[in-house]
This record gives sequence, C-alpha cells and structure tokens, in this order.
Amino acid sequence: MNSDHLSADISEVLLDEDSIHARLAEVAAEVDRDYAGRDLLLVGVLKGAVVVMADFIRHLNSHVTMDWMAISSYGSGTKSSGVVRILKDVDIDLTDKDVLIVEDILDTGLTLSWLMENLRSRGPASVEVFTFLRKPEAVQVELEPKYVGFDIPNEFVVGYGLDYAEQYRNMRQVGVLRPSVYGR
Ligand code: IMP
Repeated sequence: MNSDHLSADISEVLLDEDSIHARLAEVAAEVDRDYAGRDLLLVGVLKGAVVVMADFIRHLNSHVTMDWMAISSYGSGTKSSGVVRILKDVDIDLTDKDVLIVEDILDTGLTLSWLMENLRSRGPASVEVFTFLRKPEAVQVELEPKYVGFDIPNEFVVGYGLDYAEQYRNMRQVGVLRPSVYGR
C-alpha cells in the first residue's frame, strides 16, 4: 500500500531538481553544438520522457521539432521483455531528419534497440539516443546512447517522469522506491 505523500515511499533521493537541471543544460549545450545547422527532430517516448522532454527543450537554443511515440514493452512488474508494440506512431515524416530519441531510462536496452531499428528503417539522416538515466545492465547491449544524463545504480527508481504502476511521475526528484511498495 502506498502512502499519501510521494516522498514517504522513497528510501533515497538520487537526483534533486538542481542537479537535474544543471545536467540538462549541459546536454542541451552539447546538442546545440553537435546539431548546428541540421534538421533535428526530437522523438520522445511516452509517457516516461514527458517531464525530461519538457525541461530539456527549454534548455535548447536551436530550432527543433518534437514528436512522440507510445510503445508498450511487455514485461511483468519491474522488468521489461523486449517484445514491443507501437501504440502511437510519430506524425512527422522522418525522411532525411536527424532524429534524437529522448528516453527516460535505459535498463536492459531491449526497448530502445527495437525502437532505433524501427526508426532507422524509415530513411532518416541519423538516429541517436539521449537517455536521461542509464542503469548498469545497459552496458550489455550494443547500444551506445549519444547522450546520457546520469548513470545510476541498479535500483528501481521513480519520479521526474518515471513511474511505478503509473504513479510517482509527478515527483520533482528521482528517488529509489522502497521495495515494500512493490511487495518485496
Ligand atoms: P529496457 O527495455 O529494459 O531498457 O526498459 C526500459 C523501460 O523500462 C523504460 O522506458 C521504463 O519505462 C522502464 N524502466 C526500467 N527501469 C525502470 C525504473 O527503475 N523505474 C521505472 N521504470 C523503469
């Protein structure tokens, strides 16, 4: 049973608001530099990337376009399986665009590997990844995100867009969810 106050279900705050914003500003400066003069399309993965996207685009100084995909990665509880289905596709044509996928967290990387392959088949100029968080297991997949916000330990985290059972997305920090909340 979760409690009324979000923070009561968190055993440790990993990232506070100030560190998140400072890092987003750094990544945005890199993206501004790397994509100068290019046709950059940011593709956010719903719903986890909503919060990072909203803050990230406001740190960018270049012209960019933004679109969204919703995919469902079948898995049980806190683990994903790599079996992916598109629930909502992008509206914008990807041909000759420089696509930067904005993702909340890279864990096993199964979801993102699938997504990159899918988008690459549509004739874009390039497809790269900005993942806000990366867990240690992610090193096992052959997927090198161009930008990583933070490397975090192998714990189940929530907040800043990340959910457990669709809750905690509105927490301003990233924190470790108490295992008692998800019954461990
Ligand atoms: P992957 O396919 O294992 O890389 O899983 C990526 C997806 O699993 C993310 O987009 C999240 O939706 C979810 N996920 C993985 N780890 C966490 C976590 O610690 N907290 C919340 N969601 C997570």
